[in-house]
Amino acid sequence: MSKKVYIESYGCQMNVNDSEVVAGILAKDGYVAVQSAEEADLVLLNTCSVREKAEYTVMQRINEMNRLKAGNKELKVGVLGCMAERMKENLLVEKKVVDLVVGPDAYRSLPKLLDEVGSGQRAVNVLLSREETYGEIVPVRLNSNGVTAFVTIMRGCDNMCAFCVVPFTRGRERSRDPQTILGECRDLADKGYKEVTLLGQNVDSYRWNIDARGTVKDPSLPVTDFADLLELVAMNCPGLRIRYSTSHPKDMTDKVLAVMARHDNICKYIHLPVQSGSSAVLQRMNRGYDRAWYLERVASIRRHMPECALSTDIISGFCGETEEEHQETLSLLAEVGYDMAFMFKYSERPKTLAARRHEDDVPEEVKSRRLTEIIEAQRNSSAKRLAGYVGQEHKVLVEGVSKRSTEFMQGRNTQNAVVIVPKALADGTALKPGDFIRVRITSSTPGSLQGEPLALLHRIQHPA
Ligand code: 5AD
Ligand code: SF4
Repeated sequence: MSKKVYIESYGCQMNVNDSEVVAGILAKDGYVAVQSAEEADLVLLNTCSVREKAEYTVMQRINEMNRLKAGNKELKVGVLGCMAERMKENLLVEKKVVDLVVGPDAYRSLPKLLDEVGSGQRAVNVLLSREETYGEIVPVRLNSNGVTAFVTIMRGCDNMCAFCVVPFTRGRERSRDPQTILGECRDLADKGYKEVTLLGQNVDSYRWNIDARGTVKDPSLPVTDFADLLELVAMNCPGLRIRYSTSHPKDMTDKVLAVMARHDNICKYIHLPVQSGSSAVLQRMNRGYDRAWYLERVASIRRHMPECALSTDIISGFCGETEEEHQETLSLLAEVGYDMAFMFKYSERPKTLAARRHEDDVPEEVKSRRLTEIIEAQRNSSAKRLAGYVGQEHKVLVEGVSKRSTEFMQGRNTQNAVVIVPKALADGTALKPGDFIRVRITSSTPGSLQGEPLALLHRIQHPA
């Protein structure tokens, strides 16, 4: 009889994909994935440490799992991901609340650790690795729409952004073998998927067969950088639309932009976190670029692809941020005109450069007020960008039924904007998830576009 695992993911897209890798590893061990903790023999929480609030949410969820355990003595609960390393003592020793703690590079040891848990012990493995990429593991897609999927191309991060806990929780940067990446993308295309998002903390520093100093490892094999990888997938998977995340402004090359511009099936959308509009703050953040450099990268994107959409991440109230520096962030938002942004209040994380070197001295209410101003500025910018699409014709990949109404379907255009359309074409042809359609954009709301579906594009034709 198969065992049942329920996996819940917190945090970034990479964590979502890691959960699928974990499901792949456990599938070999006889586990099937189920949709709720109540049905499961094993609950795994794949956690995030990026902000204090994220950790707090998970701690609450662990408490809920403990209540569930009280009614089901057989239930085992494990913590995976970024909190595993940070919190292992707390989770295993002090509170004795979980059975299993496994860090992001130790998922292959899950079957062995689960054996230990089965015999009544607590099990832990939070070792970080310089090599692990789970290259050949076949992920089991969880909560999938059958149309879009994540493919992780690299793990860890070697940038020491002062605010960021990731280098401590996910370890050193390493890239996955391009052939296994291509294999996974082809497999997804064969299974009917229409879009892949290539994931890494900093995709621009992807490199294969060459070390950080530029020494080629095996001269008989090609060297692959991120631009080469993107082109490899675009050319070999013509039926797939390709996205990627996350770019780093200091590393994003014109070579990548040229590849994007050259291939219709690479989406014209870039997530380029700026974090702050002030060069002085960027320096304290140790981001490796200043405002002028960032704006030049944006200009280069626009030169290569005038239609390209941009999104960003912003942190408000980083250590020492003055009112003038905050104003520089607002002016940068206005200058760039992002389609979308993820906006956060600074939250000090243990061990980071900022925690060691800078004082978290911006009062909470100032952080909140500045964040509100940033959100307001961005709302205007998003609305303006979306309104600018009205009247245009876009190619849209249908992902499923609209979240708002079952009478509508929703998909995305190349710029990653959500597009809502009626369920059928004018001739009555019903739309299905995975269809590429031509849509006339008729109106916009702050978060989405509405349109009229004009035609079904040849189902295997790749969209612009
Ligand atoms: N506090 C607030 N936001 C943070 N981020 C990363 N670390 C912190 C922190 N300590 C944000 C950054 C990053 C995004 C994933 O999360 O904007 O790009
Ligand atoms: Fe954090 Fe910087 Fe790495 Fe992004 S690139 S994960 S912000 S250290």
